[in-house]
Amino acid sequence: MCPNAVRWSGFIFTAISVVAFSAASAQAGDDVVHERQQDMKAMAAAAKNIDAMFKDTSPYDAKAFKVAAETIRAHSGERLSKLFSSPVVAEGSKATANIDTERPAFDTLAAELGAYAAALSAAAERNPEVLAPEMRMRGGDTKMGGPLAKRKSAALDPMSMPAEHAFHTMLQVCTSCHAKFRAKDN
Ligand code: HEC
Repeated sequence: MCPNAVRWSGFIFTAISVVAFSAASAQAGDDVVHERQQDMKAMAAAAKNIDAMFKDTSPYDAKAFKVAAETIRAHSGERLSKLFSSPVVAEGSKATANIDTERPAFDTLAAELGAYAAALSAAAERNPEVLAPEMRMRGGDTKMGGPLAKRKSAALDPMSMPAEHAFHTMLQVCTSCHAKFRAKDN
């Protein structure tokens, strides 16, 4: 077969799957709701694994740490935003209608999640053997004011903060999004 034909068949195949994906998300049917919730559960499981390593209830394993960080990264950003594209409200989903009206805020949280997850992944890459002291949160990291306030903007760069701080800040992104865009129980 001529190389162009191969390229074209690949292109057409990709185009078909993109159309199939948008058709599914346009209905916000059971499949989409299931996928939303599966993605969230996968991120929760990954976050739990990382948390256990910081808490020393699981031994540090750089590979597993990185896999968990990459799981969150892969489910963040555009993929997350797309899963909650219009129509947002659906039977069995706790996603709230304001995702549609406040989409830039939703997308920003989805992107921030990815930035923190990428920072965690990079930290695992840099520390293949042990959970190094530099990965640990320092005393002043959680304080917003005080002597560290002037370094606030630097501290907000996920790549330049200790991994543990990036992890806790990432969890705050999960919580912020849920507070704003997920319906409360009952
Ligand atoms: C940009 C917004 C956003 C971010 C960021 C986000 N979530 Fe969610 N999450 C949601 C929404 C909306 C739902 C409700 C989904 C539904 O019911 O369809 C949800 C649902 C969940 C659920 C319940 C799933 C189920 O089975 O019903 C869990 C667990 C969860 N999220 C964990 C996480 C964790 C852990 C993180 C961070 C690592 C995170 N989420 C980050 C928006 C977000």
